[in-house]
Amino acid sequence: MKILALIGSPRVGGNTDLLVDAALAEAAKQGHTGEKLHLYDYEIKPCVDCRACKKGELVCVQKDDMPKIYKAIDAADALILGTPIYWYGPTAKMKLLIDRLRPYVANRRLEGKKAYLIAPSEEGPSACGPLVDSLKMSYKYLGLVYAGEALVTANEKGEVAKKPGEMEKARRLLNDL
Ligand SMILES: Cc1cc2nc3c(=O)[nH]c(=O)nc-3n(C[C@H](O)[C@H](O)[C@H](O)COP(=O)(O)O)c2cc1C
Repeated sequence: MKILALIGSPRVGGNTDLLVDAALAEAAKQGHTGEKLHLYDYEIKPCVDCRACKKGELVCVQKDDMPKIYKAIDAADALILGTPIYWYGPTAKMKLLIDRLRPYVANRRLEGKKAYLIAPSEEGPSACGPLVDSLKMSYKYLGLVYAGEALVTANEKGEVAKKPGEMEKARRLLNDL
């Protein structure tokens, strides 16, 4: 299986990044391949609700870097959304990405793919309810299968590496892929 991890943290080498690495390394042992994509490296304009993606070719007409990301998503068998908790939701960059998934509502190309969530935060799982709820509903709307989550307690950059129990949550995440 080909896994695409979309990282919505600005911190390269931060907690989300390290957790995604751990999940992908474990998946590699089972013969899966993984690709990481840092959303902050890409220009992602906001969805402007033009509804062009609901007609004709069912594609987004915004001019930015999203075509590269759409291509990677289309090529993947499973997705990981990795985002720190910012104000009890995803980072703004991750939200831009989620909004731009709108073409998939009509083209159904995500139907049946598994999707996971990796979310570190200072407060841990108790801070993640709103994000988990909204992602479960969004994945369902898109036809994605919500396949699991790693909700991790970590705050300082890279702190999670010193917390074996928290790292383990990410290592176990893709066990059922
Ligand atoms: C703008 C901002 C908002 C945050 N909001 C929350 C929050 O609501 N709850 C929480 O537990 N942590 C919050 N945090 C802490 C981050 O979730 C935490 O530091 C996380 O480990 C960062 O992940 P990263 O290293 O992958 O960037 C916030 C951090 C920032 C910068």
